[in-house]
Amino acid sequence: MLQIGIVGLGGIGNNHARCYTANKYSKLVAVCDVIKEKADVAAEQYGAQAFYSVKQMLKSGIKLDGCSVTTAGVENGSDHYNPTMELLQAGIPVLGEKPISNDVAKARKMVALAKKKRVRYGINLNHRFTPAAVKAKEWLQGGRLGELNIVNMTMWINNPNESSPWFHIRALHPHSLDVMSYFAGEVDQVQAFFKKGKGRKIWSNVQANLLYKNGVIGHLTGSYDAGGSYGLETLELVGSEGRVIINEACEKLSYYPRYSKEVESFDHLGGMGGFGDTFPSRIGAWVDDLRKKVAPSKIDAKAEDALKVQLVIESIIKSWETGKVVKVPQK
Ligand SMILES: NC(=O)c1ccc[n+]([C@@H]2O[C@H](COP(=O)([O-])OP(=O)(O)OC[C@H]3O[C@@H](n4cnc5c(N)ncnc54)[C@H](O)[C@@H]3O)[C@@H](O)[C@H]2O)c1
Repeated sequence: MLQIGIVGLGGIGNNHARCYTANKYSKLVAVCDVIKEKADVAAEQYGAQAFYSVKQMLKSGIKLDGCSVTTAGVENGSDHYNPTMELLQAGIPVLGEKPISNDVAKARKMVALAKKKRVRYGINLNHRFTPAAVKAKEWLQGGRLGELNIVNMTMWINNPNESSPWFHIRALHPHSLDVMSYFAGEVDQVQAFFKKGKGRKIWSNVQANLLYKNGVIGHLTGSYDAGGSYGLETLELVGSEGRVIINEACEKLSYYPRYSKEVESFDHLGGMGGFGDTFPSRIGAWVDDLRKKVAPSKIDAKAEDALKVQLVIESIIKSWETGKVVKVPQK
């Protein structure tokens, strides 16, 4: 049984806690939050030990086989850095939340430290961990779509938070861009337009064009002024022989052959009910990577993937600021 800790017991930390508690291979033994009450409540709820700083948790000598870092901060990503660096330095595998960081320089430092210490470091890019995404990838790799030409993604939620100009693209779109790369590979160039929503100060709507290294072309529509009855996300893969659509991350998967009207559709493949079910499947894959001692460079949705996505995001911002097509840095 793997002994697991969690740093940051907000809504998402508690979500991770429920997943580890339900997983037959993991046991939640430590919960840590700088807000004492949050750690204490979680400790009581999950039968774990409470800590109020990572330093105190490490000093206690408690055995940790892995630790989630579910802090937040500016653009939902600035608080991950310190606890992640402390844990990695101590040789403890980390599953961080997205964005890996809102600051690319810090993301690079965390990835570099994990590499130096040879420690597993993954990010909760949960949208790709669905039976629907996995089956679509099998279809793509098995040639059922023919040659992939286009990948389109729409992802939107209603988020009225006005915290910073780039909050929407940095906090939400690690998800969408990661799923797109899961199918189309690494991005070479981007071009983007932004729009501020009605009465808003932040760039809450985006349209971005992407050119992948393998020649696939992609498009992202993103918004913090939509969601609700419009749903959450739609992914479309268009190949020379067929087209795939995934609705709401996992709820509906459809294959449309190019030369036949016979559509193949799955509703709630693998029994997944909705977006909430993407957490147990992603955390289950992380627990499996830990217990099978998968090489740090081979774990699914590793921190390096999340860093690459942040580099795409910064390039999208730069494109809008400069009015140019921007080549995405590779590291
Ligand atoms: N993967 C997903 O689908 C998904 C969905 C929503 C949010 N998120 C991400 O989850 C993360 C957490 O979101 P949330 O809404 O739970 O945030 P939150 O602000 O409610 O909770 C964060 C907690 O971390 C604690 N904290 C901050 N710094 C700390 C430190 N150094 N040591 C210990 N505790 C510390 C805070 O006191 C707080 O209790 C964010 O990065 C967010 O982007 C992911």
